[in-house]
Amino acid sequence: MSAPSTVLVTGGAGFIGSHACVELLDHGYELIVVDNYSNSTPQVFARVERIAGRFVGAVYDLDIRDRHALSAVFDRHPVDAVVHFAAHKAVGESTRMPIEYYDTNVGGTTALMRTMHEHGVHQLVFSSSCSIYGDAGHGPLDEATPARPANPYAASKWVCEQILADVCRRCPEYTVLCLRYFNPAGAHPSGLLGEDPRGTPENLMPYLAQVAVDRREQLRVYGGDYPTPDGTAIRDYIHVLDTVEAHRVALDHLTDAPGMHVYNLGLGHGSSVLDVVAAFSRACGRPVPYEVAPRRPGDVAELVADASAVARAWGWRPLRNLNDMCRDAWHFQRLNPHGYAGSPRRPRAQE
Ligand code: NAD
Ligand code: WQD
Repeated sequence: MSAPSTVLVTGGAGFIGSHACVELLDHGYELIVVDNYSNSTPQVFARVERIAGRFVGAVYDLDIRDRHALSAVFDRHPVDAVVHFAAHKAVGESTRMPIEYYDTNVGGTTALMRTMHEHGVHQLVFSSSCSIYGDAGHGPLDEATPARPANPYAASKWVCEQILADVCRRCPEYTVLCLRYFNPAGAHPSGLLGEDPRGTPENLMPYLAQVAVDRREQLRVYGGDYPTPDGTAIRDYIHVLDTVEAHRVALDHLTDAPGMHVYNLGLGHGSSVLDVVAAFSRACGRPVPYEVAPRRPGDVAELVADASAVARAWGWRPLRNLNDMCRDAWHFQRLNPHGYAGSPRRPRAQE
């Protein structure tokens, strides 16, 4: 079997998906993108095309749970492999809307798998999350760490992983590369692509960026009493460009060995919330105001990857550090204080 050249990207308008489109276009892939824009905007594709200097290819406004619409896309295009980003991802929201999360994340994945199966497509790169580890304790976590998902979002990703693993056990023609991202952050260095969450950001880096650009008054640091050196929680932040480069490398390895293969994506060392505040303050050239607030329910003290498996398997390592993430996130926010709002769309004929 040859390496894929035409790749269907689900959720390609989103934060990670849009950066992945640039990375894959830059490496010669033909893309087919599907997204329902539930957490994104089609305006992003004009920017992807500006950076890549190429048309994105076919873009479809559809819900991946709509198997008829999805099937029509597979009928129309010779898909070699799928990179599956489309999902809901907000932990807090998932506790209020668990059915929506299971329906989109699990139902979306089974609808996609069924459509792939019917069209003889057996290669998938799947977006999983460090959140499946839950409160796993201190120290870097490798892929053998037992899953203990603590909220519906994390549980939905863990259910997907188990479904995909079972499909791979029973159907030897499948290869699934499951990438468990820790905390992707940053933006494209051009300042054209970045994280543009709807409403109030739940995640640290986009919240900090909106404080720095005066859209919000100050950051609330959730918890100053964790058993960590400065009392704030530790995470393993990974640049979104490193994250998407790992996907491109994954596509090169889809033909290595069938079955399901799981890899953590992180730097392998952690940063506290106050480390991130300090790095962001350096990046934007002034102290970002914050207050220490109570812990956020469901948060854990520390989540850091043992990211050595992916390095051993593919010789791939992330290249960028926390300062790079803050510099690029700030560059995007400074140039786009209100995100993609008001940005031009690509001509309709291409959608
Ligand atoms: P995002 O919300 O920016 O992107 C997800 C995209 O999927 C959006 O464009 C959204 O409109 C689309 N989408 C959602 N439901 C859909 C549906 N039913 N049909 C079609 N499109 C749909 O999120 P992101 O940060 O880019 O995350 C991408 C993937 O990575 C997700 O699967 C997420 O769970 C996973 N992940 C993200 C992080 C993170 O911190 N950003 C960490 C670990 C894993
Ligand atoms: C990071 C740290 C907060 C906001 C979640 C998911 C994970 C992955 C990434 C999808 C924590 C603190 C945050 C704020 C703060 N996503 N914080 N003030 O919770 O580590 O991970 O997103 O898969 O699966 O669980 O990321 O960016 O929300 O928080 O102090 O306003 O920043 O308490 O310690 P998290 P985050």
